[in-house]
Amino acid sequence: MKRTLLTTIAFILCVSTLRADEGMWIPALLQRNEAEMQAMGMKITADDIYSINHSSMKDAVVLFGGGCTGEIVSDQGLLLTNHHCGFDWIQKHSTIEHDYLTEGFWAMTMEEELPCPGLTAKMLRNMEDVTDKVLAGITDQTTDDERAQIIAENIKNIKESAQKDSQYKVTVESFYIGNQYFLMYNEIFDDVRMVGAPPSNIGKFGGDTDNWVWPRHTGDFSIFRIYKDGKPYKPDYHFTISLKGVEEGDFTFVFGYPARTNEYLPAVAVNQEANVIYPVVVDLRTQILNIYNKYQEKDPVVRLQYASKHAGLGNGWKKWMGVIEGIRNFKGIEKKQAFEEAYINWCQETRARMKYMHALRDLAPVYEEYEKYRMATTYLTEAGLSIELLEYAANFAKLAEVTKDTPQEEIDELIGELKEATTVFFKDYYQPIDEEVAITMLTAYSAAQPEDFRPEILNEIDRKFKGDVESYVDYLFGKTVLTSEEKVMAMLDNFKPSKAKKLAKDPAVVAVNSMMDFYVENVLAKSRECNEKINNLRRVYMEGQMKMIPEVYPEKRLYPDANFTLRVTYGKVGGFKPKDAVTYGYFTTLDGIMQKENPDIYDYVVTERLHELYDAKDYGRYADKDGSMHVAFIAGNHTTGGNSGSPILNANGELLGLNFDRTWEGTMSDLIYDPSICKNISVDIRYVLFLIDKYAGCTRLIDEMTIAE
Ligand code: ARG
Ligand code: ASP
Repeated sequence: MKRTLLTTIAFILCVSTLRADEGMWIPALLQRNEAEMQAMGMKITADDIYSINHSSMKDAVVLFGGGCTGEIVSDQGLLLTNHHCGFDWIQKHSTIEHDYLTEGFWAMTMEEELPCPGLTAKMLRNMEDVTDKVLAGITDQTTDDERAQIIAENIKNIKESAQKDSQYKVTVESFYIGNQYFLMYNEIFDDVRMVGAPPSNIGKFGGDTDNWVWPRHTGDFSIFRIYKDGKPYKPDYHFTISLKGVEEGDFTFVFGYPARTNEYLPAVAVNQEANVIYPVVVDLRTQILNIYNKYQEKDPVVRLQYASKHAGLGNGWKKWMGVIEGIRNFKGIEKKQAFEEAYINWCQETRARMKYMHALRDLAPVYEEYEKYRMATTYLTEAGLSIELLEYAANFAKLAEVTKDTPQEEIDELIGELKEATTVFFKDYYQPIDEEVAITMLTAYSAAQPEDFRPEILNEIDRKFKGDVESYVDYLFGKTVLTSEEKVMAMLDNFKPSKAKKLAKDPAVVAVNSMMDFYVENVLAKSRECNEKINNLRRVYMEGQMKMIPEVYPEKRLYPDANFTLRVTYGKVGGFKPKDAVTYGYFTTLDGIMQKENPDIYDYVVTERLHELYDAKDYGRYADKDGSMHVAFIAGNHTTGGNSGSPILNANGELLGLNFDRTWEGTMSDLIYDPSICKNISVDIRYVLFLIDKYAGCTRLIDEMTIAE
């Protein structure tokens, strides 16, 4: 059957407006969602979730460290977050004798809770709309440059006067790409201690293989405690824990700190992201990860050394593959294009809307111009600096510029830093991997970047080594001193300004300097310029969309992109159909862990202790009413990076679990949300409590929680 273009567009638009679960809502404005939330099953009020007049749930949700969420679950400041969010701290506290990553860690008394200097928890105390104050003095005639200046000045004044009267830390945050501003009052806690973590074969069960994937069986939690003035913190609110579990269709909401989404990009930008940039990154990372895998499989020491590096590269790699596929399968670009056609039609109805039309149209050429610079940056970071030797060598650039006039203190400080960096670097460095990575990455870099627009070092490989990357890499690793910890330390111990010149000639320093110089001289300023233009145009395009969407698509969801501020999102529990003839159930159980078990594959090892509990079916009050131990479940909450560790709550606002991931098929939700495939994954709180109680015997923690049976 042949469809006309118009009916196709009408069809696409109609589909894209069915977005029941979409949206990350500003808690201070949640009244607007209350009726819908209650209609979906919520039994509490928006005021119970966020209030500045009395204690509310917002007083129990924190930004954990730089990029995760945590929630308070006792009147003594006990905090839950994900294992992968606490990972660095678990690792930092581990020693040869006490490997907490492998063994797990349980503080059996409060005295055993481990301080984590540098770790903070940030709690939102109040937020108020200051849009009018921030935009005061701006008219239709204000140029973009003037606008930026006026806003900076206004924000400075708003912050200064707010800070004078507040015990909290104030910031001003932009929403809707500069169309709305909020003044935020945050309380910062800087004494957060580590209380417990399961062994990695529970907290990271399935590892990178299962990462982003449903069905999932990861016990992804760790436990911390907030202290204030040296004592356990007494919060204004803490979550009650529900042991009732979830059923298909149940209302849930997630309260946390989503980092970044881009739901209002023009089609050209989504296309650039999904069809130009991501494929390059995925391809480069595939090559690197293949090399890592090869050596990691051969040697358990290397497996450990590269575990964290592998997870870091692998997380984005896998997610972006999902995004590329999701956008293709769900016709993301076509939907955006259809929307833009309707938008242009709307703009053309009145003269006053012309500026909104121009904003959209002007974005295309800027993105086109930007592509070259984005690509150059992508190859620098993903290919050039993926060579560990070069990334490490970048640290030495400053020392290589030292002269006899450089103050000795400065040199000493630099040397101190470099010694530290050197110890860290060699702890997890395996040169054969790096040499192979260097060969593949330099080959790819050189092939992809035009001769007249790339770092000089690539042209030099062509000239001096006749394009033979392997022999260049031999020379690079053969001649540099930076592959030997001993030599580097000796060089740093005996450093004199007269030796700087020699260091500057080290081939690794030469190579990375060439890449960085090229970037600074030819890419950085242009990228900034494009970015500024894009931001200004996107602000106007956003303003247009904010006017057009309620008029033309009153049922479409309009909410600000994630910006590292506290948000509420809600949706129902339920499985989905990821592809033809495949259906996913909405929960997993301990049975699935036993099915996945494989003692020979690191990611799927099951401990003796878990076996014992499983064989005895010793689940106590944490068993589901079906008798099994539920491990994880999925629901239609619109989440993103940063939402890890967020509480997922039921209709009464009781804790059901911890959000920790999304399903692979729906990772495109950062760009385009589709409720049929975009699902969040949470670990069931009953599995968490079962592990704390039955597995670890850390019952003192259970005793301080408030539990609704
Ligand atoms: N995909 C999740 C997120 O983006 C979890 C990552 C950590 N887990 C892992 N196996 N690497 O953060
Ligand atoms: N795993 C992510 C996080 O660490 C959550 C997500 O991207 O869905 O925040």
